[in-house]
Amino acid sequence: MNLAVLGSGGREHAICYKLHQSKKLGKLLCIPGNAGTEKIAENIKIDLGNFEEIYKTIKTKNIEIVIVGPEQPLVEGIVDFLRQRSVKVIGPDKFSSQLEGSKSFMKNICKKNNIPTANYGVFDNLNKAEIFLKKNGAPIVVKADGLAAGKGVSICESFDEAKIKIKEILDGKFKSSNKVILEEFLEGEELSYFVLSDKNSYSFFGSAQDHKRVGEGDKGPNTGGMGAYSPAKMLNKNLDEKIRKKIIEPTLSAMKNLGHPYEGFLYAGLMIKNSEPYLIEYNIRMGDPECQVLMMTLKSDLLEIFDYITKNKLNDLKIQWYEKESITIVLCAKGYPETYIKDSEIKNLSSVITDHDNQIFHAGTYRKNNKIFSKGGRVLNITSCAKSLSDARKRCLKNLKQIDWDDGFFRKDIGWRVIK
Ligand code: AMP
Ligand code: GLY
Repeated sequence: MNLAVLGSGGREHAICYKLHQSKKLGKLLCIPGNAGTEKIAENIKIDLGNFEEIYKTIKTKNIEIVIVGPEQPLVEGIVDFLRQRSVKVIGPDKFSSQLEGSKSFMKNICKKNNIPTANYGVFDNLNKAEIFLKKNGAPIVVKADGLAAGKGVSICESFDEAKIKIKEILDGKFKSSNKVILEEFLEGEELSYFVLSDKNSYSFFGSAQDHKRVGEGDKGPNTGGMGAYSPAKMLNKNLDEKIRKKIIEPTLSAMKNLGHPYEGFLYAGLMIKNSEPYLIEYNIRMGDPECQVLMMTLKSDLLEIFDYITKNKLNDLKIQWYEKESITIVLCAKGYPETYIKDSEIKNLSSVITDHDNQIFHAGTYRKNNKIFSKGGRVLNITSCAKSLSDARKRCLKNLKQIDWDDGFFRKDIGWRVIK
């Protein structure tokens, strides 16, 4: 079977890595891909906003299934576009993509279906937002309504700080948002919970814990994710049951009732408070870097899973996992998440030994004259799995030591809450 993965991050490299292990794989494309995917797939440089060009390439290359990695093309309706042209795609349609693309849409689904989430208000002017702010006090969470690449959320400790952030959003800091969401601050532990869904059923697809803050001990501004581990230690049978019954199943039925059964990956960002799950956000795709840790422990054939989804037969498949724990550490370019160094050469990468338990997934990299250069904020994902999380982290840190890159930095403490 011939497949194409859309995207250029560590998530897409990890998906390609796993697909590459399938005996059923014929051709694999990655559009546009990076210096890591080019070793196992054919990279084709096309802008992900150019649906026509993507479609033409898929036809020419006889691609049978397309997997969409990032949220932007999903929110812009790539799934509708390709399905109208009879291409099989893994991902939700434009309507369902609002679960991530519009926080007010997501909050509305929660309200109508009694899905536990933080109390909130949606505002399009400062005066009304201020009234809510005065009533609720700080700390308070200020969010841009639309997509903001992980940068649209601020946890504000004071009234004045919140006012500045609200103003920034209403003044158009994020082009995708003219509305601001104010949310009650939920205290607890975060958990990333994944499911895969087709028109008829859904399957659990792993859990992970992300580390969003840039600094060690979870300090500093939010990022797209500095590292993750899987499975999440917090998740037990009882909590799993609550997440399914109170959050996942009501959401999937709501989408079905709205005439848009959810298809593809659904990633619930949850806060667990006193053993109760609250939905913080939905993502309509795999997490990055959570996908990287999951692809290391997934035992089942990913290509077969995708094939079953496109036939709406996911229910016939039992997804299997290795009994291992995995961790990924994100190597970033200095400056990230603000302005960061670009086009800097990363040396000695090839001296890191990679195997079934140890991988380096590329994110923001490119190859020139047989050398690897950085081009993104999050550049490489050093990933290992082992019987224990502590051993897995030791392996990652050892592998990181071998990489020669003065312009990079990373968090040494990924998993600090659970690794003693
Ligand atoms: P989001 O983009 O909505 O996932 O928010 C990014 C991060 O901000 C989350 O992963 C949480 O760490 C934090 N966050 C968002 N909403 C809340 C909330 N209501 N209470 C506490 N923390 C939150
Ligand atoms: N790691 C967070 C995300 O993928 O949204």
